[in-house]
Amino acid sequence: MFDFYRGRRLRTTPALREMVRENEIRPQDLIMCYFVVETDDPDFRSPISSMPGQCQLSLKQLEKQVGEAVKNGLHSCMLFGIPAEKDEVGSQAYAEDGIVQQAIRMLKAKWPELIVIADTCLCEYTSHGHCGIVSSKGEVRNDPTLDLLARTAVSQTKAGADIVAPSDMMDGRVAAIREALDEAGFTDTPIMSYSVKYASAFYGPFREAAEGAPKFGDRTTYQMDPGNGMEGLREAAADIEEGADIIMVKPGMPYLDMVRMLRDNFDTPVAAYQVSGEYSMIKAAALNGWIDEQSVVMESLVAFKRAGADLIISYFTEDVLKTLNG
Ligand code: PBG
Repeated sequence: MFDFYRGRRLRTTPALREMVRENEIRPQDLIMCYFVVETDDPDFRSPISSMPGQCQLSLKQLEKQVGEAVKNGLHSCMLFGIPAEKDEVGSQAYAEDGIVQQAIRMLKAKWPELIVIADTCLCEYTSHGHCGIVSSKGEVRNDPTLDLLARTAVSQTKAGADIVAPSDMMDGRVAAIREALDEAGFTDTPIMSYSVKYASAFYGPFREAAEGAPKFGDRTTYQMDPGNGMEGLREAAADIEEGADIIMVKPGMPYLDMVRMLRDNFDTPVAAYQVSGEYSMIKAAALNGWIDEQSVVMESLVAFKRAGADLIISYFTEDVLKTLNG
């Protein structure tokens, strides 16, 4: 008889399947995102309508929520700030008492072991909502923005951030940030660069969450075109050359090919960001009873690992920690 391949042999029991499983989610792979709001109201906790289950939080509420998550094994989180005042140059991004700086200080004082990552960008802090300085003609200017990003990264690190994560997509920003961090004595602070970041409609819900939608135009002159793959290699190579310690692909699920491409071409750790729109789609379908949320979430996250990601940024992190704890 023809001796065909019997793949089912290794699938007969849960124990066998577990034994030969190639990829798994570990708590230390996961990074949760929080939106922290500058407000006098310690009870401020405002649900984000397009991201069911996620809220904008006051410092006090952030403390409460992270406290719960840490009990469940939270290893790392990334912070986005919503300042009380925005201006043309996003000065609250690099203000010493900016909301993210306050949040970092609070989290690191309470949980020194927690890896706190600061998203380094201007769009939540600028009145026009762009990630850089805007000229009188409405263009987002690259080089004058670099200094402000570097200042932001230094001020976040001074506040205690363990990692800075530039998400602006200005050219040369990793080098500018590395140089500024080193000059300030922070030679050991890693940079996790949003290297392969697309101009994506999947960020829609985030713009409600972080109140950072551009007031005019879009981000297509600085974020990548979704049709491009090879360009991602150039972006990642440039960032590594400039000093990035971790490279990121964003969005996640629609760009798993890019995760694999970075994994195969570089030995730098790779992160994948399951963005707001991905979260909302899964939530919406689950809330309609069309899919089983927990199973779909676990399957979507293990796909990142299979594609080659070391780290996963996901709004499902808190839920997944509970699932992992049984
Ligand atoms: C800031 C930033 C954005 C996201 C992360 N950092 C928005 C954007 O680039 O427009 C999106 C995250 C998400 O959708 O979950 N530049």
